Formats: sequence, C-alpha cells, structure tokens
Amino acid sequence: MPVYGETFRRSGSRLMREWVARRSKLATAILKGFRGLPAGLGEMLYLGASTGTTVSHLSDIYPRSRIFAVEVALEPFSRLLRLAERRSNIYPVLDDASFPERYSFFLEAPDLIYQDISQRNQVQIFMWNADHFDSVREAIFILKATSINSREKPQRVLERAITEFEGSGWKVLNVIDLSPNARNNYLMHLRR
Ligand SMILES: C[S@@+](CC[C@H](N)C(=O)[O-])C[C@H]1O[C@@H](n2cnc3c(N)ncnc32)[C@H](O)[C@@H]1O
Repeated sequence: MPVYGETFRRSGSRLMREWVARRSKLATAILKGFRGLPAGLGEMLYLGASTGTTVSHLSDIYPRSRIFAVEVALEPFSRLLRLAERRSNIYPVLDDASFPERYSFFLEAPDLIYQDISQRNQVQIFMWNADHFDSVREAIFILKATSINSREKPQRVLERAITEFEGSGWKVLNVIDLSPNARNNYLMHLRR
C-alpha cells in the first residue's frame, strides 16, 4: 500500500517499491553516493518523523528493528499513526524532541539517531538526545542551514556545526550536500 503516492512494480516474486528522492532527503543522499546506513540495527530513534515518508522506507530496510519516530505536530503525526498501524516495527511518539527524558522510557538501547528537524537549535536538540542515550554510537543528521541562520552563508553554518559536533566527541565521517532537491540541507554522518 502506498504511503505518499509512490508506485510499486513486481519483478518475478519480488515487489519493488519506488523511493522518490524529491520526497526523502535520505534517498537524495543515497543517489549522491551515501553508503553509510548500518548493516543491522536494534533500535533507531528518528527525530522529526513528519508523516513518515522516510520512516516508511527505513521500516522496509530494517524489518527486524524498532523505529521510534518522534513528531511534535499533530497533523503529520495523525498520518504517522495510521502508517504505524500497518507496520509492526514503527513506534510513533507525539512529543517535542527537545525533551528526550519524556520518551526515553519507551526505548531500551538505541544504536542510531536520525534527525531531520527544521529548528534554529537543531544541533542542541541533537546533543540533548545524544547525551540522554549513551548506547547511540552513530547518527544521521540533516543540517538545515537556513533554519539555523538565514542570513549567514550555508557553508559557514555547516562549518560551525562540524566544529560543534567534533568538540562534543562526534567524528564527522561524511557530509553530503542535498541540493538541488533540498537546497542548503546537508546530510551529516556522525560516529562517536
Ligand atoms: C522536514 S520535516 C521531516 C521530514 C521527514 N524526516 C521525512 O523525511 O519524511 C521536519 C519535521 O520535524 C518536526 N519537528 C520540528 N520541531 C520538532 C521538535 N522539536 N520535536 C519533534 N519534531 C519536530 C516538524 O513538525 C516536521 O514534521
């Protein structure tokens, strides 16, 4: 069943699902060479899930993982909830990602944080979550430069974020510029 209007095609006994790069920054990053998705995962903490477009593809990629999908806005959350009713590995959480202590009891030991939140303090939100969940060793962080500062050059905002991550014990393994699909957005692959 389609989640956001994507198409399906059968190839022999296999059903293939379209992943629309314009709709998912992770798909754009993969098309641009990102190969950093871990081979296996126990739990994933996904911050800024919206209606679940990218979450649904991660749910296909990691059928045996538990994906905790946090979204603060009620309207996209109601669609995320309907998606989770059809998928046994998605656990929707209606809350503000600035307060990990409010949802941490749902998770056992997440391995990875995926964050895609357009807030001015998005790096701080990530740090609060990373500090809260010691088990997390790896992260995929979508930096939305203009949400942090629309008057500064995106490249400068990116450089400052790299300095902040590295100063907090994170190694920046890779940075992928997501333009033109998502201008001034960068996928950052982090490890600690
Ligand atoms: C760009 S959309 C995410 C798209 C989604 N990651 C995808 O690829 O399908 C950003 C989402 O972050 C949510 N958001 C913004 N601030 C948040 C916060 N403090 N806590 C949780 N979600 C937040 C917004 O409501 C919005 O739905």
